[in-house]
Amino acid sequence: MKNKRTVLVTGGCGFIGSNFVRLLLDDYPEWRVINLDKLTYAGNLRNLKGITEGENYRMVKADICDAEAIENLFIEEEIDTVVHFAAESHVDRSISGPAEFIQTNIIGTFTLLEAARKNWLAEGVDDSREKCFLHVSTDEVYGSLGETGFFTESTAFDPRSPYSASKASSDHLVSAYFHTYGLPVRITNCSNNYGPYQFPEKLIPLVFNNSMLGKELPVYGDGKNIRDWLYVEDHCEAIVEVLKKGENGKSYNIGGNNEKQNIEVVTLICDILDRKIGLLESGEPRSSLITFVKDRLGHDRRYAIDPTRIRDELGWEPKVTFESGIEKTLDWYLENQDWVKAIVDGSYQNYYQEMYGK
Ligand code: NAD
Ligand code: TYD
Repeated sequence: MKNKRTVLVTGGCGFIGSNFVRLLLDDYPEWRVINLDKLTYAGNLRNLKGITEGENYRMVKADICDAEAIENLFIEEEIDTVVHFAAESHVDRSISGPAEFIQTNIIGTFTLLEAARKNWLAEGVDDSREKCFLHVSTDEVYGSLGETGFFTESTAFDPRSPYSASKASSDHLVSAYFHTYGLPVRITNCSNNYGPYQFPEKLIPLVFNNSMLGKELPVYGDGKNIRDWLYVEDHCEAIVEVLKKGENGKSYNIGGNNEKQNIEVVTLICDILDRKIGLLESGEPRSSLITFVKDRLGHDRRYAIDPTRIRDELGWEPKVTFESGIEKTLDWYLENQDWVKAIVDGSYQNYYQEMYGK
């Protein structure tokens, strides 16, 4: 029998997934990582630059909706743990084209659950190794808050966008597999992540990229929508804590204790970049690029997390304040402008062919 816990990470070439793969390979050499990713527009092999296949790591290009491929992988690799990140993740795209969100986020999660059920709960299966299916979800399943209040794990789901509705559906399926079949599942619902390797369609890297190009910085509506910002490395560490100490059948909210209005975030990025690299060529500050645009349809007003459960039961708290996290993040984007450029010019989509020749 193999001697390492084998962790199937889905979506490991995306933003959070790649940070998570890196954390496991750096800090948990006793775990073997199988990264399964379809390499959609959001998947980028350069997010894992420097990581090569070997005893502890294998990359599999596949779709989580492909039942045969997933079931074969469970058998071939003797998967013990699933950390499920793969998803369509951008709210604006879910508004303009929801079909992919239903397919990947709901059918894809169902396909993974079925593979785990068939493999882990079958008669005669060796269950001496602990199994765990950890589903990574979002605080957006809870809907929108007014000026006060926080989401707890018992807040009723009230998703408002096709994205959050598809994630809520997948959360319900995961939970149903626990209650119906006894599948060992855990769910995490986190707030907005930021940090290295985030695709430049999301607010923070989009503002970085546009401001570097002297393009307008679109702020939806009045800019006073509030998000709670969680530094991606804090999030990844929280997931490890849930894997190590969490309880099956439970969900855990993960927040950053950093509630900010969008306009505050955008202005702060402009000010930091002005300080770090000087004003725009025109001599204007970057904040002069801020442009208020038509609001997003169904735009949730405020998200905020009550962190009591994960703090009291697992002893996890975020370490990174928004002020230090945003500095680190902008330093990373400044030092890795080639990474951003390859996305903007589309060349990042050739990396798989270049690395694997197919
Ligand atoms: P991302 O869009 O950066 O990456 C998604 C990854 O999944 C990509 O590598 C993509 O190629 C892969 N993928 C997409 N469809 C696939 C499919 N059918 N089969 C296999 N792989 C597929 O996403 P992210 O921001 O890293 O988010 C990861 C997870 O965390 C998602 O489930 C998302 O809902 C959740 N989440 C994200 C945030 C956030 O702020 N980014 C907040 C809360 C929850
Ligand atoms: P986003 O990064 O898309 O994350 P989410 O929608 O999952 O919260 O957006 C963060 C906030 O920033 C959200 O309130 C929408 C707003 N936003 C803008 O104002 N302008 C933009 O160009 C984008 C992408 C987002």
